[in-house]
Amino acid sequence: MPEQTALAQQFPPQFVWGVATSAYQIEGAATEGGRAPSIWDTFSHTPGKILDHSNGDVACDHYHRYAEDVEHIANLGLDAYRFSVSWSRVQPDGSGAWNEEGMEFYARLIQALAQKNIRAHMTLYHWDLPQALQEQGGWLNRQTAQHFARYAQEMAARFGNQLASIATHNEPWCTANLGHGTGQFAPGMQDEVAALQVSHHLLLSHGLAIQAMRAQNISAQLGIVLNQWTADPATDSEADCAAAAWEYARSVQWFMDPIFRGHYPELALAKIDRSRFLVEPEDMQVIQQPLDFLGVNYYFRAYISTETPPRIPAATLGLTDMGWEIYPEGLSRLLIGIHQEYKDLGLPPIYITENGMAVADQLVGEQIHDAARIDYMQRHFQEVAKAIAAGVNIQGFFYWSLLDNFEWNSGYLRRFGLIYVDYVSQRRIWKDSAIWFKSFVQKFKTRRR
Ligand code: FCB
Repeated sequence: MPEQTALAQQFPPQFVWGVATSAYQIEGAATEGGRAPSIWDTFSHTPGKILDHSNGDVACDHYHRYAEDVEHIANLGLDAYRFSVSWSRVQPDGSGAWNEEGMEFYARLIQALAQKNIRAHMTLYHWDLPQALQEQGGWLNRQTAQHFARYAQEMAARFGNQLASIATHNEPWCTANLGHGTGQFAPGMQDEVAALQVSHHLLLSHGLAIQAMRAQNISAQLGIVLNQWTADPATDSEADCAAAAWEYARSVQWFMDPIFRGHYPELALAKIDRSRFLVEPEDMQVIQQPLDFLGVNYYFRAYISTETPPRIPAATLGLTDMGWEIYPEGLSRLLIGIHQEYKDLGLPPIYITENGMAVADQLVGEQIHDAARIDYMQRHFQEVAKAIAAGVNIQGFFYWSLLDNFEWNSGYLRRFGLIYVDYVSQRRIWKDSAIWFKSFVQKFKTRRR
């Protein structure tokens, strides 16, 4: 690994370094300030859904501790913070009245960030649909897309000139497939065909929201955040290669093609029961809106084997505490791949909006020696630099996550933070990786001056 200065020098001077979080994972205050339940409140309170039987009722108590958390971001020397809005905090039933107390929370957060010169990157939907909308069918109901657009319009009108960017959705692949296909995530539906219809409504809601926000001439950049991976065939057999191509089509291209080409990928469509996949004639035009940025979240690759039992990757660099293969090279290959595929189709500048590692961190005295996380970060930074050198327009990187937090169906058992959270006292303790990141960003900035 190159030392910090050499690594830092590989990034262009205007490159943005930040951290990311999401509302349900950190805010807590689930029943305070007029907030109504979301599908994640319902899901996490359903027995058997969360590994450690926990929920986000309190989480990191960020709702009350946001000022302290913003101090941490500032002390880390970071330029940017990516957070999401709890829709049911600002609009409890997902349609109808705005909850001013909820709006004020985000106003205070954005102001605190501005005071520290930290760019605010807002995500409108990080999986927490107001429960009231779920009662009406949730994302399976086409009408939800209209409600989402109205919500986006309101957030843009109120905050659009104080934000660096607004993303419509975070990882719609997860909402569709884990929320409605496998049922591992809220709302816990298990219906593969419904999951496809949901993905279409999510894309439709994205297009409608971009239109509604665009109409207001705000200064915030507008985009979407997609989770992506390379799909690598385990062998060069025809079967593995075909399965890998299909996997790439149904995950990466399934979202990229509608947005940048105005249609779904043929390869994926071929396997779909079209009688249960309803697309209105004008939908694709609505979805294909010009974007100011694309957010890419990268954690692992898809390793595709058609053998029984399937081959598994060699995992040369090991697995994270999530059991995910550490495969940094996939990040540069992915970025270079989508650049080549979509650069002439209006692909905007890219931000790496999430990348990070779960480690079974141990508190030793007042320290956490997470050398594995530092190694992970270095290796992934290196791959981003490689993609930039290959001509990909990448403008920033957000580490997931600022704090240890409620990791969805894994509860509090998986720690992704740069900062350790003692959930009993709510004390925040910097891990070695936080100290490392601060020093890295300092070196980057020294060079910039
Ligand atoms: C991503 C999610 C984020 C977090 C990380 C580990 O898929 O967007 O909320 O759970 O994974």
